[in-house]
Amino acid sequence: MKETQAYISAHQDRFLTELLEFLRIPSISADPANAGSVRRAAEWMAENLKKAGVDHVRLEETAGFPIVYGEKMVDAKAPTVLVYGHYDVQPADPLDLWDNPPFDPIIKNEVIYARGSCDDKGQVFMHVKAFEAMYAAGELTCNVKFMIEGEEEIGSNNLSTFVCAHKDLLKADVILISDTAIIANDTPSIDVGLRGLSYMEVSVQGPNRDLHSGVYGGAVANPINILCEMISSMHDEFNRITIPGFYDGVLDVSPADRAAMAQTPFDLEAYQNDLGIHAVHGEKGFSTIERASIRPTLDVNGIWGGYTGEGAKTVLPSMAYAKISMRLVPNQSSEQITKLFTDYFLAAAPKGVKVTVTPHHGGEAYLMPTDSIAFQAASEALAKTFGKEPVPTRGGGSIPIVALFEKELGIKSILMGFGLDSDAIHSPNEHYGLFNFYKGIETIPYFFSNYNELYQQ
Ligand code: BES
Ligand code: MN
Ligand code: MN
Repeated sequence: MKETQAYISAHQDRFLTELLEFLRIPSISADPANAGSVRRAAEWMAENLKKAGVDHVRLEETAGFPIVYGEKMVDAKAPTVLVYGHYDVQPADPLDLWDNPPFDPIIKNEVIYARGSCDDKGQVFMHVKAFEAMYAAGELTCNVKFMIEGEEEIGSNNLSTFVCAHKDLLKADVILISDTAIIANDTPSIDVGLRGLSYMEVSVQGPNRDLHSGVYGGAVANPINILCEMISSMHDEFNRITIPGFYDGVLDVSPADRAAMAQTPFDLEAYQNDLGIHAVHGEKGFSTIERASIRPTLDVNGIWGGYTGEGAKTVLPSMAYAKISMRLVPNQSSEQITKLFTDYFLAAAPKGVKVTVTPHHGGEAYLMPTDSIAFQAASEALAKTFGKEPVPTRGGGSIPIVALFEKELGIKSILMGFGLDSDAIHSPNEHYGLFNFYKGIETIPYFFSNYNELYQQ
C-alpha cells in the first residue's frame, strides 16, 4: 500500500477541494423543493466515480432518487467488496442555529462544517478517493462495486426494491460502509450493531374547530393535553416502555458482553458538557452506553398543535400531532412493534377525541459477528493507522438497509465509520474533522489488502 499512500499524500488537497464541492449541493432528500439538487448530487458522484477509474458508472433510476452504481472487476478469483453509502442529507433547519450556512462549507480549526460533512458525504467520499488511490497506484486487489443511494435519510424504500430486483448485480463477499462513528480520535472502534426503527405519526382530534380556551376550557377535551398524557403513559417510573409486549423477545445481552461494554472508554462529564446537560436520563439498571445502544427506546421527535406564534392567543386547539420514533434491538420486529404501538395508542384514547396513527419508515436491528475475516480485516486496518486496536461497539443509530442486505442478498456488512458522536449529525453545525476524513482515506486501502489476503488463505 506504499504507492497508494504516496498517491493520497500527493493529492490530499484536491480530495478536500472536491469534497467541498460535493458538500455545496443541498441534497436534502426529505424536502421536495430540493429534488433537483438531490439529483445533481447523484450526477456529481457519478462523474467523480468515473474520473476515479470506476467502470460502468450509471444512475439507476428508481421511483424516487437515483442510485449511483459502478464497479471495477480486477480479478475473478479476488473477493468482491460492495461499498454502500448515501449522498442525501438531512434537512438543515433550524437555519438560524448554524454559525455558517450549511451548504457553504468552511474549515475552522481543522474541521469541516457543513450539512452532510460527516453523514454521509464526507464518509462515502473517502471510499471514492481510497479507490482512486489504490487503482492509480496499481494496488487494487479486490473487485469493488459502489452503490450510493439518495434516500437513506428517508427510509431507503426504493433501494430495498432495487436490491431485491438486482441480486446478481450486487453479488459480493462483504459490504463495506462508513456511516457510523468511532469512540474518539485516539480510540478507534468498529460498530458491530445497529438499532432498528419504527417511526410513527399520530394525531388527536378534539372539537371541530379551535375554541376560546376560557369559554370552553375545562369542559372539552384538549387534544394537546390528551396527547401529552398518552405519550407520558408510555414510560413508567423506571423509564421502561409500558406498551404491552414491547420487550417480548428482546435479546438479553450476556453479563460478559455487558462487562465488556462497561470497559469501553466513556467520559460522562465530557458527554454531559458536550450536550450542555447536568445529568443523564434513561432506563433504570442500564448505563448510558447501554441505554444508547443495546436497549430499545421511544422518543417524541416533534409535537405540535394549537397556537405557536408570537405572543399569547387563548385557544383550546382542535388538533394535536406528534412524530414518535422507537429504536429497536435484535429480535424485535419493526412490523410487530408498529402494530403494538398502534393498538396501544388507539386503545389509550379517551372518549371525546379521535386518534389516528400513521406508520412511517422502519427497519430491523443488525448484529455483526466479530469472528469474520471482514471484521479482522477492518480491525487490523484500524490498528495499523491508529496505532491502537479498535474496540467493538454497538451503535445506537439505524441503517435499516443493512439488515435487508443480509436478508435479501445474504451478505454481511462491516461498519467502518470514522465520525464522532459529537460531530452533530442531523443537528446544526454538523462537522467532520480533517483528521477523520484523511484517516478514513488512509485506512480503507488496508481493509482491502487485508481482506484479500485473509480471503485467499
Ligand atoms: N448514519 C446514520 C446512522 C448512524 C449514525 C448509525 C451514527 C450509527 C451511528 C444514518 O444516516 C441515519 O441517520 N439513519 C437514520 C435512520 C433512517 C431510517 C432515517 C437514523 O438513525 O435516524
Ligand atoms: Mn448516514
Ligand atoms: Mn443520517
